[in-house]
Amino acid sequence: MSDRTLVICKPDAVGRGLVGEIVGRVERKGLRLVAAQLRTIDEATAGRHYAEHQGKPFYGDLVAFITRGPALLMVVEGPEAYKVVRTLMGSTNPRDAAPGTIRGDLAIELTENLVHGSDSPESAAREIGIFFPDLG
Ligand code: RTP
Ligand code: MG
Repeated sequence: MSDRTLVICKPDAVGRGLVGEIVGRVERKGLRLVAAQLRTIDEATAGRHYAEHQGKPFYGDLVAFITRGPALLMVVEGPEAYKVVRTLMGSTNPRDAAPGTIRGDLAIELTENLVHGSDSPESAAREIGIFFPDLG
């Protein structure tokens, strides 16, 4: 069985030159790249992507951060892809993230946590539709 999920190397990852490291971990795990694009996310698209967080105290900072520069948007494929990516990412707060995870090894700030991965199959389908509408 093969599933697809959205992965974003956030602007801090691009700025710090960590895209290769992150994509390498995803590929070495056994997930396959289906689509990729380097793009600066605009505010309206960020609002759609993070709709679940609108109204929360950190929402303004989150949108300012995710739109501040180019991000690498990717669709990856594999068995239970969303779950596998979330495990590779580690906990949301890098200070809590286990060593061996992307956030645990490479990040220290809650906002600048390097990577996004869809949190369910439903989120994956919704988010892929936002960034890669042609993939269907
Ligand atoms: P993401 O959506 O970016 O992959 O991260 P996530 O699922 O691990 O975490 P989520 O709960 O969806 O939160 C989205 C991003 O908002 C920031 N955040 N700040 N100040 C706070 O309490 C707080 N909580 C979340 C994080 O940068 C998180 O990645
Ligand atoms: Mg999330």
